[in-house]
Amino acid sequence: MILDLTGKTAVITGSSLGIGWGCAHGLAAAGATVILTGRRQDTLSIARERLLIAVQGATVRAVASDLSTVEGCEHLLTVEPRCDILVNNLGVYEPKPFFETPDADWEALYQVNVMSGVRLSRGYVPMMMNRGWGRVVFLSSVDGIAIPVDSLHYGVTKAGVLALSRGLAKVTGRTGVTVNAVLPGVTGVEWVKDMIAGMALQNGQAVDEAGAAAVAARYPTSITQRVQSVEEVANLVVYLCSPSSSATTGAALRADGGIIETLC
Ligand SMILES: NC(=O)c1ccc[n+]([C@@H]2O[C@H](COP(=O)([O-])OP(=O)(O)OC[C@H]3O[C@@H](n4cnc5c(N)ncnc54)[C@H](OP(=O)(O)O)[C@@H]3O)[C@@H](O)[C@H]2O)c1
Repeated sequence: MILDLTGKTAVITGSSLGIGWGCAHGLAAAGATVILTGRRQDTLSIARERLLIAVQGATVRAVASDLSTVEGCEHLLTVEPRCDILVNNLGVYEPKPFFETPDADWEALYQVNVMSGVRLSRGYVPMMMNRGWGRVVFLSSVDGIAIPVDSLHYGVTKAGVLALSRGLAKVTGRTGVTVNAVLPGVTGVEWVKDMIAGMALQNGQAVDEAGAAAVAARYPTSITQRVQSVEEVANLVVYLCSPSSSATTGAALRADGGIIETLC
């Protein structure tokens, strides 16, 4: 299996923390030049330093930009015009009851969770197609299929990402560019770890026990019944970004511990 990405440039959105940083780590370890993105320059600088320590000799650049806006996406496309691998990871989760979610919140989440991927794909994918090779991976969620009642607008954007990924795969066709979606379940990013640590403290449980209880309560169909690691999700993303995944396009692949009850 070829996971060598030497000579490739990977743009990963929302990558100063969380799954995005994990993907950047995996891609850099496979030899890609990685471009980190986020809004805050200070967090990005720390993320870049962490990555340079984790992957000796890596080439890492960082661009501060609000990718929920047209201007922010244009800024990234101008500053980093080369992209062979686009990981549309950026996504914001917002629990809120349906009847208390105004239009503005639906629109805001749509801009960040869907339109960032639309705008960057529209900017980067034509060049990939011209070069005859490229990889696009969208981070959706199990919530895009098992729509959560406490964050309906999030679920709808994640379903939208699945449709976008599938449709874009058909647009790129036989050009050598593949487009796929990855669906994580409950993943141990910083904010999830903090939340579970708080639950563990409140309930007098060990952290792993509290994590398993949180997964079981929210997703009773989970087979693994545990919080998965960032690395477990990033491993699938890195594979999809590699030359070895060339027969996989238009697919939605789960890294969710078996939450979704479908046979394929
Ligand atoms: N964590 C999970 O359990 C889980 C489960 C299922 C699916 N997912 C999906 O996986 C993806 C990553 O989730 P995550 O939990 O790792 O995210 P996260 O930890 O919340 O990541 C936040 C990152 O996004 C950046 N960001 C936020 N808003 C931005 C904006 N408007 N423009 C540019 N950057 C922005 C942040 O930097 P700044 O704050 O500096 O902007 C930071 O780098 C998302 O699509 C999410 O829906 C996550």
